[in-house]
Amino acid sequence: MAAFDPWDPAFVADPYPAFAELRELGRVHYYEPSDQWLVPHHADVSALLRDRRLGRTYRHRFSHEEFGRTAPPPEHEPFHTLNDHGMLDLEPPDHTRIRRLVSKAFTPRTVERLQPYVQRLADDLVGGLVEAGGGDLLTEVAEPLPVAVIAEMLGIPESDRAPLRPWSADICGMYELNPPEEVAAKAVRASVEFTEYLRGLIAARREEPGDDLISGLIAAHDEGDRLTEQEMISTCVLLLNAGHEATVNATVNGWWALFRNPDQLAALRADHSLVPSAVEELLRYDTPLQFFERWVLDDVEIDGTTIPRGSEVALLFGSANHDPAVFTDPARLDLARADNPHISFSAGIHYCIGAPLARIELAASMRSLLTKAPALTLAAEPGRRPNFVMRGLERLDVEVG
Ligand code: HEM
Repeated sequence: MAAFDPWDPAFVADPYPAFAELRELGRVHYYEPSDQWLVPHHADVSALLRDRRLGRTYRHRFSHEEFGRTAPPPEHEPFHTLNDHGMLDLEPPDHTRIRRLVSKAFTPRTVERLQPYVQRLADDLVGGLVEAGGGDLLTEVAEPLPVAVIAEMLGIPESDRAPLRPWSADICGMYELNPPEEVAAKAVRASVEFTEYLRGLIAARREEPGDDLISGLIAAHDEGDRLTEQEMISTCVLLLNAGHEATVNATVNGWWALFRNPDQLAALRADHSLVPSAVEELLRYDTPLQFFERWVLDDVEIDGTTIPRGSEVALLFGSANHDPAVFTDPARLDLARADNPHISFSAGIHYCIGAPLARIELAASMRSLLTKAPALTLAAEPGRRPNFVMRGLERLDVEVG
């Protein structure tokens, strides 16, 4: 257990050896600092994600008191109001109702139609990077691409997009383990501002509907009363945040992994038909979202240990993705890996609704970079962000060569 320390920069830099140790030691481990049960094996993570005795919330069945928990402090209320009404933090029947409304916009077929637009956007952004002779891949390509795509889908005007990224970053601070009070204060402020902005935008779209997702949600709200105004706001924030944070990190983590594995990068450069399997392998190899929590709603038993109702389990996605019981030679980056049941998009009812879109975005930027910058090199060793859960880099400086 000593090696598992999400607050230690050395662990965050490379958590995979500590995960291997955890898997060796057993299937479930109580971790006192976060009062959680860590689950490191692929088979267990996969099964628990599908197990309805666990949930992203307990509030549909129990009060805080009944569940042996305390309500969050009242000053955090704006963050929780926003967060708790998004589908990711709801369970059926509310989860089913909202997910059904939103999922039409994200079916593989609908998203496939966006491909030419996404590719054009990626080509433009990479074109800019090439013209400049290089720069920070994160700010020039990885970030603007998914932000523009999801903002466009939702119908956020271009002139309003600048604060989206800082709001999202501040809100996402709350998803790290045991966030300190100054992180919570920032998340609360961002929640208030983001909510206020969306209230205004929703009012404007109600006056003048478009063919965007927000107008579609307003119609669902107004016609059938199938979505409250708060759920609509929370859905937009969830889509905006989930719609880019992990994609940004997956892009830069992926290129950083490619630079560290020059034989694999050379193989990819020689054969662009590897792009789809490369995207999957990079999502596995350096998992962008390392960890997701579930509340235990009814006792579960893992390998003879009873995890009682009221506990929290921490599902270690990065560890599951490196489990040798499922992946041959898991520490090796193999862009041609054929059998790759990675868990980076989760499983069960909360399986990532944006997975088809994320795949298109990651493949589009990879194709643009391979064709327009075929001799791309690393300009400086990147610094890692200190976050464990949302794994990413501060920046990734490259030269076009
Ligand atoms: C590489 C990129 C991405 C990764 C690794 C990723 C990963 C995930 C994971 C692991 C979950 C489930 C968490 C859990 O089980 O507790 C999830 C849920 C979700 N993701 Fe993604 N995601 C990505 C991109 C996107 C994009 C592009 C969108 C939208 C445009 C999106 C929207 C969502 C939504 C709305 C949910 C909640 C689904 C539900 O609760 O039913 N994600 N994502």
